[in-house]
Amino acid sequence: MANENYGIVVHGGAGVLSNLSSEQQQIIEKKVSETLISAYKILQNGGSSLDAVEFAVSEFEDSPLFNAGRGSVYTSEEVQEMDASIMFGLDRSAGAVASVKKVKNPIRLARKVFEKTEHVLLVGDGAEAFAKSIGEPIVDPEYFYSEKNLQRLRKVKSKLVQNQLIQDKIGTVGAVALDKSGNIAAATSTGGMTNKMPGRIGDTPIIGSGTWAQNEICGVSSTGHGEFFIKFQIAKEVCTRIEYLNQSLAESATDVIEELKKIGATGGLIAIDKDANISTPFNTDGMIRGSITNRSELNFAIY
Ligand code: GLY
Repeated sequence: MANENYGIVVHGGAGVLSNLSSEQQQIIEKKVSETLISAYKILQNGGSSLDAVEFAVSEFEDSPLFNAGRGSVYTSEEVQEMDASIMFGLDRSAGAVASVKKVKNPIRLARKVFEKTEHVLLVGDGAEAFAKSIGEPIVDPEYFYSEKNLQRLRKVKSKLVQNQLIQDKIGTVGAVALDKSGNIAAATSTGGMTNKMPGRIGDTPIIGSGTWAQNEICGVSSTGHGEFFIKFQIAKEVCTRIEYLNQSLAESATDVIEELKKIGATGGLIAIDKDANISTPFNTDGMIRGSITNRSELNFAIY
């Protein structure tokens, strides 16, 4: 059955963004806007929300501008370990990968996990062996190399006690969409947090924390201090409040992010509901975000 409303919302992470130059802001805006326009076309042409969010997130993974894929930050051992997850609200299909170091597009592999295995989450060497077995592109870790992120790690380490996590200037990426068939999908991808312990996995690949999609209710992609987003199951929490407390998307999403702030947890989220209403609350100084729906033109903001 055709759905009256449809749309997509994306984020490029919440964090300490106040010192982005206007040139950097323009470059980010261009990338987010181009990605949104192409992803929205998928929906306009009757494509699935799953294809739209996978496309948007893979575009961000291919860009060094964001902390995901090519722009990933480093662990305390100067290695890039990436996490991603994707979910389809029609039947709660969900796939995720964590701690992958050589997979060009972790979000594409996450989708393959639910399409080609009976599992939800594959980690590290096993995930990479699976990628090889299905021909998913593997690259040399050099592909992800970032002098800027490496220097950032070294600066942080020279000032802080080991293993302290750092909220990165540019964060996790994500996309959430509602398509013309009424299906909601969500996807999230990240390099995690600078100076994380090797093997540390955040909220991004945890279904219900970093990503959630539930038809007739909402879809959510989170960004922020992952440990808190796991403990409070943030992505699902937003949808649960709508389902059981009858809250609007804006009420639920805003309350959840405000509650995190009260306990000192920084971050934000993007969400879309069954009517293509969009909410993008954050409790940091900024969150890179943008959206397009059949009722509203392209919207982009950082602060
Ligand atoms: N939210 C991303 C992370 O904590 O890894």
